[in-house]
Amino acid sequence: MKFRKSGIAVLAITIAICIAPAPSFAGDKEKSAVDLSPELMTLLKAEMGELGNGIQSVALSIATADWKAVNETAKKMHASYIMKKSLTPAQSLELRQKLPSKFKRLDMEFHARAKQLAQAAESQDPELVAFRYSRLVEGCANCHSVFANKRFPGFEHQPQKHQH
Ligand code: HEC
Repeated sequence: MKFRKSGIAVLAITIAICIAPAPSFAGDKEKSAVDLSPELMTLLKAEMGELGNGIQSVALSIATADWKAVNETAKKMHASYIMKKSLTPAQSLELRQKLPSKFKRLDMEFHARAKQLAQAAESQDPELVAFRYSRLVEGCANCHSVFANKRFPGFEHQPQKHQH
């Protein structure tokens, strides 16, 4: 009997954990940044530097209708995951534990947009490529506005309309 009761208690707690709302940043207007060790921060910034070069070179490639270059650069951006860098097991664990789920979601979203740009480049349709490019830039900004708004204070003055 006792055993059964504690079984029910465990079940109740499990259900409570499962339905508890995930921590959300919605409505949180405080400045935030990711909290990583200096080594991982260096890796993240190096990756961001590469993305910065990529996004600029894609703009030039679109302006010159170099669809092959758009396709290749977009594919590279799609493939560049900090999670897939050569990390020590401790660093992988740190990333998994420290990056909030919202960061991971925005990262996945961004990578999906890079893939869509690569596909659009294959169609060689200038309007579609330009549209996919703008969606990709928006993907950078979506993450920066939440996780890099200390580094990029310009996001502070945005109207808060894209809260999901
Ligand atoms: C999922 C989140 C995320 C996405 C997507 C993202 N960034 Fe970042 N970015 C960050 C964070 C976090 C920082 C570090 C802010 C800080 O210094 O605290 C950063 C910093 C940067 C920096 C500054 C690096 C430095 O040396 O300080 C550049 C440049 C940059 N990002 C470019 C881009 C570009 C271009 C894209 C899109 C093509 C992009 N980022 C997409 C999260 C993201």
